Amino acid sequence: GSYGGQYRPQVHFSPPRHFMNDPNGMFRDHNGTWHLYYQYNPTKSVAGNQHWGHATSQDLYHWTNQPIALFPPKKNVYIFSGSAVIDKNNTSGFFGNQSNGVVAIYTLAEYLDDGSPGPQSQAIAYSYDSGFTFTPYDGNPVIPSNSSQFRDPKVVWYEDHWVMVVAYAQEFSIGIFTSPDLIEWTHASNFSNQGLLGLQWECPNLVRMPLYTEDGQRRDDMWTMLISINPGAPVGGSITEYYPGTFNGTHFEAVDSVARIADFGKDNYAGQFFFGVQDEEDPVSIAWASNWQYTQTVPTAQEGWRSAMSLPRRNYLTRIDRVGWKLISSPYDMQPIMGRNLAYNQSLVNGSLTVDFSDIASNAVYWEVNVTGLPKKGVPEMATLNFTLLSPITAEYIRGGYYFGGDNPFYLDRGGAKGFDNVFFTDKLSTNSLFRNGSWSMKGVMDRSILELFLNDGVDSATATFFATQPLTFLIISTSSLPHGTRVSTRVNALKSTWQ
Ligand code: FRU
Repeated sequence: GSYGGQYRPQVHFSPPRHFMNDPNGMFRDHNGTWHLYYQYNPTKSVAGNQHWGHATSQDLYHWTNQPIALFPPKKNVYIFSGSAVIDKNNTSGFFGNQSNGVVAIYTLAEYLDDGSPGPQSQAIAYSYDSGFTFTPYDGNPVIPSNSSQFRDPKVVWYEDHWVMVVAYAQEFSIGIFTSPDLIEWTHASNFSNQGLLGLQWECPNLVRMPLYTEDGQRRDDMWTMLISINPGAPVGGSITEYYPGTFNGTHFEAVDSVARIADFGKDNYAGQFFFGVQDEEDPVSIAWASNWQYTQTVPTAQEGWRSAMSLPRRNYLTRIDRVGWKLISSPYDMQPIMGRNLAYNQSLVNGSLTVDFSDIASNAVYWEVNVTGLPKKGVPEMATLNFTLLSPITAEYIRGGYYFGGDNPFYLDRGGAKGFDNVFFTDKLSTNSLFRNGSWSMKGVMDRSILELFLNDGVDSATATFFATQPLTFLIISTSSLPHGTRVSTRVNALKSTWQ
């Protein structure tokens, strides 16, 4: 596949050709190489015929496509989502003296002759070569079932045993299983019917999440359950929900029954956390940057591919006054893709800045805006910060804006750059983003057909795809009616293509 198409993201992963959905099996190996597998239809640009595609990276931005890692074992049985672990102590017995054996844990999804879903069961495969080639275990499945709605096993290590979370999709229940060896699994408990239900629960994650104070001190850890909902999310289609809580090795209990959503965009689903990130580091995740409502109709098929992954993100929890628990999500160290500075402005108070980046080959840019010195009270209703990404040729645009008064709403509007016709491709998305200690900030990454926003260093984040028919090559940032004493600094940088 060529990565030169006008929609092709230049700093995000997308498959060489055809259709991709969920990230799968992500781990960092003993050499520090990051492995990404993904739900892959290698023959068409729509979902179906699921394999595990594979790519590797040294920095989570520059990816090397690898041969397909897992193939359907027989006609009408596909490889659905799942995870991978490094079996360092050879608990499985597959690896002899090897300490870098990899075990993939995934769903075998059977379809009946009439095309309706048949049984879904959990299976494993092992790899002697750090995840490049796998051998399916001959005793598969390791968790048989008759249900057609039982899938997406994610395995983590807890003190002295393996723990699997797996979705009973249409029962709104996450099963928790334990195992000493990845082969014999015991059902331990269920986490059910909490928060938003939608119509299905999929792709659970159970993560020991570091807990930081508001001023950035790392304190304890707090187990967190993440569940993807599809269809039936509040903004339509798919979304990710999370629950901070406690976990004792067999049972997970949420701190409360509140529904919390991980991303206020509409293109962030089925996210997964890498296995093999040390406890001293913050967990790292990648999500599928699309939505089942329209993913199979987006116009990137003209270029022979569909769907990209989100940026790699560093995650942790914090507790914020008036807001409560928040999953923080910010881009993993972007230094490997940061290009030259295009604009730097230390006093954008009640003024505007236009950056023409049409000569940047990647057509991808990064910007940040830092606002400080806001008064506690009395910010005028009209005080706003706006940004627009614009095509000077067609006037297609994406824009967003923040209101410093009232309840501090932020909106994102991709309606000026849809590029295809789909009633579910929601134009306008919003969140409330309170400012603290007189400060508010926004970071943005625009990558041809994906925009990611991070407000207040990731307290709120949004992933949004768009398909402008002409490249958006102007970035305009402006502020107005800001009170006296406010300071605004802005920086815009080119991003370096990781594919050229
Ligand atoms: C989520 C999902 C999973 C399933 C996979 C199939 O997007 O529906 O539940 O394993 O996609 O491709």
